[in-house]
Amino acid sequence: MKAAVCVRYGPPEVVQIRDVPAPVPEDRQVLVAASATTVNSGDARLRALRVPRGMSLPVRLSMGVTGPRKPVFGFELAGRVEAVGEAVTSFQPGDRVVASRGFDLGCHAELITVDEQGAIARIPDGVSDRDAVSLCFGGATALDFFRRGKLASGESILINGASGAVGTMAVQLAKHTGAEVTAVCSAANADLVSGLGADHVIDYTVEDFTRNGRRYDVIMDNHGNAPYARIKGSLEPGGRFLMVIGDLWQTLAATRRKNVVSGTASLTADDYRTLMSLAERGELKPVTDSVLPFAQIVEAHRRVDSGRKVGSVVLTFDATP
Ligand SMILES: NC(=O)c1ccc[n+]([C@@H]2O[C@H](COP(=O)([O-])OP(=O)(O)OC[C@H]3O[C@@H](n4cnc5c(N)ncnc54)[C@H](OP(=O)(O)O)[C@@H]3O)[C@@H](O)[C@H]2O)c1
Repeated sequence: MKAAVCVRYGPPEVVQIRDVPAPVPEDRQVLVAASATTVNSGDARLRALRVPRGMSLPVRLSMGVTGPRKPVFGFELAGRVEAVGEAVTSFQPGDRVVASRGFDLGCHAELITVDEQGAIARIPDGVSDRDAVSLCFGGATALDFFRRGKLASGESILINGASGAVGTMAVQLAKHTGAEVTAVCSAANADLVSGLGADHVIDYTVEDFTRNGRRYDVIMDNHGNAPYARIKGSLEPGGRFLMVIGDLWQTLAATRRKNVVSGTASLTADDYRTLMSLAERGELKPVTDSVLPFAQIVEAHRRVDSGRKVGSVVLTFDATP
């Protein structure tokens, strides 16, 4: 089967499509023939080892010191179940599913194994594979941070970096929770985030939200330029900070503060089912920056590296519905 192999850390061109052995599902795994996947900010960060300050050594130690230990990247996929392990009871060949392997990676390939108990859900009729996969990275991240940050109906939330994969899902899911949403993004994306439900939009090139005198119950930083030290004066008493991205020192400091939520989002089947059911009802819309054939994965990495992608970059395989 074909897979995109990252031969070393470096620019997009270090990713090469090669023939590799197909995986064989274990007893409790399903084998999925991929129809769509994404190149997300995590893939691009790992490929380039472009990680926040202080994180380079921990990332090298966990992902590979001189080059990636798991050379096939890709966090998530959509596709059709091709085969199931002997002990699998919840899925059968032919099921259309969306799934994440998280930091196990491996989804930039034609065939992928996923644990039956992992983050995997059926794709409802009426939701395409590419829409399903487009929603998941940002959607699951936002759901996890909102849950840990106890975002509640009637609260105000400011979302910094509202137009990326996480931001576009966060805006919609926060509105769905019943929160009043202020989105921070460039002017070019103001109409998009308003259309997703944002009540207020701040163009960061014109206004610094930390200096306008307004306060929020929850602030979410998806860009990494709004650490706790900068935003704490913009939190209401009892307010919480959702640090989706932060450097090593900010992450260590966060462990000592009860009102800061940080770390890696947990990906669960429950959240995947929630995302699929919202999408089926039209209450969560995918935001897809671009759709490229799998063969153009290097181009997809370049787009993510631009830092300007809007929502998700989706890659499709031949038989994508
Ligand atoms: N903790 C976790 O588990 C977790 C999970 C997922 C992602 N992440 C991290 O979260 C971050 C966001 O991920 P993503 O996939 O959403 O990224 P992304 O899609 O690459 O975000 C791109 C967006 O960033 C915005 N942006 C650029 N400069 C900005 C600025 N100065 N202020 C505010 N926004 C700005 C851009 O919007 P404009 O063009 O409108 O400026 C662009 O649309 C990444 O660093 C990723 O590594 C962490």
